[in-house]
Amino acid sequence: MSYETIQVAPVTPHLGAEISGVDLSGVLSNRQVSELHTALAEHQVIFFRDQRLDYDSAKALGRHFGELHIHPNTPGPEGHPEILPIHADGNSKRIAGERWHSDVSCDPEPPLGSILYLHTVPPVGGDTLFSSQSAAYEALSPRMKTFLEGLTAFHDGGPSYRATNAKLGIPETGKVYPHAVHPLVRTHPMSGRRLLFVNRGFTIRINELPEDEGRAILHFLFEHSTKPDFQVRFRWRPHSVAFWDNRAVQHLAVWDYFPNTRSGFRVTIKGDRPV
Ligand code: SIN
Repeated sequence: MSYETIQVAPVTPHLGAEISGVDLSGVLSNRQVSELHTALAEHQVIFFRDQRLDYDSAKALGRHFGELHIHPNTPGPEGHPEILPIHADGNSKRIAGERWHSDVSCDPEPPLGSILYLHTVPPVGGDTLFSSQSAAYEALSPRMKTFLEGLTAFHDGGPSYRATNAKLGIPETGKVYPHAVHPLVRTHPMSGRRLLFVNRGFTIRINELPEDEGRAILHFLFEHSTKPDFQVRFRWRPHSVAFWDNRAVQHLAVWDYFPNTRSGFRVTIKGDRPV
């Protein structure tokens, strides 16, 4: 793939690329947006250094790639419902994204992608891990691929969001969270790659199997889909950005930096029904 308006340096053979030559807070040309979109589809997660974003410029950036998503459990700051604050410090009882997950896969139309900007990072630690779900799918045996074909899974936001709220001391309100049925294997609309689409955060059961068989298969898929072979690990510096294709990767935030501060915010782009 050749790029004219950005430089793209792959980080691993499967996923991840560092992008340079673009100021994400400025006005982007159609060509830049199209090349960023191509780099995202090709590398699944793209990283940027030395950026300066505020809520408005982050939202403008996200809107180049689609409509913005509003998180079903975490309200944004006043006047910015589309912003998801990501913050941890010495008073935190939890952090966002400590388990392998794909963002809000419980939505009937799960997000296309997320753009995370961190302005403050700990002196060391606080990395984010990403795992390629096309590499995970491709590594399965032909028999397992055939077995998974046509199976669907139930994804539910309730257990995960209620557990988060309990840790934070937020009272239970009986709210119904998003839930949806998705194929276990989906096809990426741009790259045409086949992708595993299950995650520990939200996938509850396989609809076409008895509960115990489904649990065993899900356990295998959760382990398989997050093997180190399919991962890239992003080491943050202040004012870095990670933009991941939420259809193609799972991710996990490492909380090894307590009581230090790690802070920034995310915008999330709406996606389509997985097929
Ligand atoms: C998340 O969006 O899941 C959080 C990722 C991170 O803080 O690295």
